[in-house]
Amino acid sequence: MKILVINGPNLNMLGIREPDIYGCETYASLIKKIEEHCKAKSLYVECYQSNHEGSLVDKIQEAYGVFDGIVINPGAYTHTSVALLDALKAVSIPTVEVHISEVDKREGFRQTSYVRAACIATITGHGTDGYLEAIDLLAERAGAK
Ligand code: DQA
Repeated sequence: MKILVINGPNLNMLGIREPDIYGCETYASLIKKIEEHCKAKSLYVECYQSNHEGSLVDKIQEAYGVFDGIVINPGAYTHTSVALLDALKAVSIPTVEVHISEVDKREGFRQTSYVRAACIATITGHGTDGYLEAIDLLAERAGAK
């Protein structure tokens, strides 16, 4: 099974940005944790991060016919991007939305997610473990088919 993990804007600043909200783990250590988790489960994984909406759209489109599952934390684009929603709908790859923080209990503008309508599940507020939970969910779903 091939899984694509996509992180949107400012997630490359993990460990530096607002540690009281997002924790002290760096982006590099998050990627290491994801890669080790996938290796242990014999899953192929590719991780991608961009601060640019169009690049994220391009990456989702390129996943068509290549990846079996997507884990996405679109960062702030969660709350604004119809383009990411449309891209996910276009490729129709099972996708899990992840947020490190509990977005639904934060500012009102964070409580809208455009991408959610194209996702099979959403995991929020579990810190970076949410990415691993999302990967497991996709793998279990694929195994059950
Ligand atoms: C986030 C929550 C978003 O509101 C924010 O813009 C982020 C990170 C999270 O992982 O909790 O960049 O997606």
